[in-house]
Amino acid sequence: MEGAQNGVRKALARRPWWMKALLGFCLFMTFVYGPWDLFVKPVARDEEVWFGILFRGWTAKLLAIPHWVVYAAGSIGLLRMKRWMWPWAAVYAAQVAFGMALWPILHLGGVSGVALGAASGVPLGALAVALWRARDVFQPVSPRLRERYGEWALVTGASSGIGREFARALAHEGVSVVLTARRADRLAALATELEASDAVRTRSIALDLGASGAAERLAAAVADLEIGILVNNAGFGSIGPFGEQDPARVREMVELSCAAPAILTRLLLPAMQARGRGAIVIVGSVAGMLPMPLHALYSASKAFDNVLGEALHEELRGSGIDVLALEPGSTETEFQQQAGEKAHAGETAQGVVHKALGALGREPALGPGWFAWLRANLALRLLSRPLLLAAVRRATQMRIPAAEPDER
Ligand SMILES: NC(=O)c1ccc[n+]([C@@H]2O[C@H](COP(=O)([O-])OP(=O)(O)OC[C@H]3O[C@@H](n4cnc5c(N)ncnc54)[C@H](OP(=O)(O)O)[C@@H]3O)[C@@H](O)[C@H]2O)c1
Repeated sequence: MEGAQNGVRKALARRPWWMKALLGFCLFMTFVYGPWDLFVKPVARDEEVWFGILFRGWTAKLLAIPHWVVYAAGSIGLLRMKRWMWPWAAVYAAQVAFGMALWPILHLGGVSGVALGAASGVPLGALAVALWRARDVFQPVSPRLRERYGEWALVTGASSGIGREFARALAHEGVSVVLTARRADRLAALATELEASDAVRTRSIALDLGASGAAERLAAAVADLEIGILVNNAGFGSIGPFGEQDPARVREMVELSCAAPAILTRLLLPAMQARGRGAIVIVGSVAGMLPMPLHALYSASKAFDNVLGEALHEELRGSGIDVLALEPGSTETEFQQQAGEKAHAGETAQGVVHKALGALGREPALGPGWFAWLRANLALRLLSRPLLLAAVRRATQMRIPAAEPDER
């Protein structure tokens, strides 16, 4: 009995208070009001409001059927927290809010009509917004990352920014982490932090992943561990004319951003496939969605990452191995300084990682937020190629410190 009570309590805890109230209302409408309305209420008294229009008599009686179906679906959806509740429940609530706001204005008129319309329309409108924003609540609860994928994760570029936050978030989920980057002192400090805060194991491997053959050496250095999660994150940018880039840095960028994720993924994948579970994150960028003059190689290398991640997501779908192409927009890390860019605002690394781990196993790719996604996609679809390139060049040029816009 106590176990059953705990089970119910635990199941209800997932819902915010207003959703519990809504569930109670849907159950009442399904089992009490709906049957009474349909089978007992005299036709002469039947009234239904849809989209602000008042229906009476037999039309109202017939419309009580979809009404009943809606509340029955709401009861099932809210009881079992079904994924299909989003977005129709929000749209239906918006329709009810609209109807309830409009009906008194049309039928009563005057100040009292407006007041009554506002009194019923505003709370129902708030409910529609709350249901719209509750998309994540209707997603199935995933087991912890450690249970889903295995004991160890390998995070490249863990000494700073997005990689460091990946390491922290994974450790919070009980995953032991292999930390790798060049700055050994930072890796050691992070390892100490994670072991103390989350009681996980760590291994730090200081290495230049931009050197030829480094990815193979890194894979060999973790061959004794069961790597269930691979985060291909290490990367850097270098703004400015391609003709002025140091050839050694050009090679390093290709090695680090393209060769390393491809080789590491290729070398760690077979063991994941043998276990039938695993996760691979490939950190691309919104910069990979567009060709970026003055960030040409960076955007090309990130296009490689975006495409590799999305293609592998589909290729491995159903195999137990989840692949995510993470395509962030501007993020507040050391990246801008390393790339030689003017500082500009961005999302936090924690925010990017939180969303990425939420999207893992659900989406092939996680973009930079709807506004940046819309801007990139609208630009890609609406502008001609020469116009697009010129616009991106101008925008990138403005990120070069003390650079005057050139004449073109
Ligand atoms: N920040 C943004 O606005 C943004 C936007 C979209 C995508 N991204 C991508 O996000 C990823 C992480 O960047 P971040 O923003 O977190 O930048 P960050 O703070 O500069 O971190 C970059 C990480 O990569 C490591 N790294 C750089 N060169 C390396 C090399 N040769 N060998 C091994 N490790 C190396 C760095 O460690 P060491 O220096 O210690 O080696 C550091 O840990 C990159 O792939 C970047 O392209 C960033």
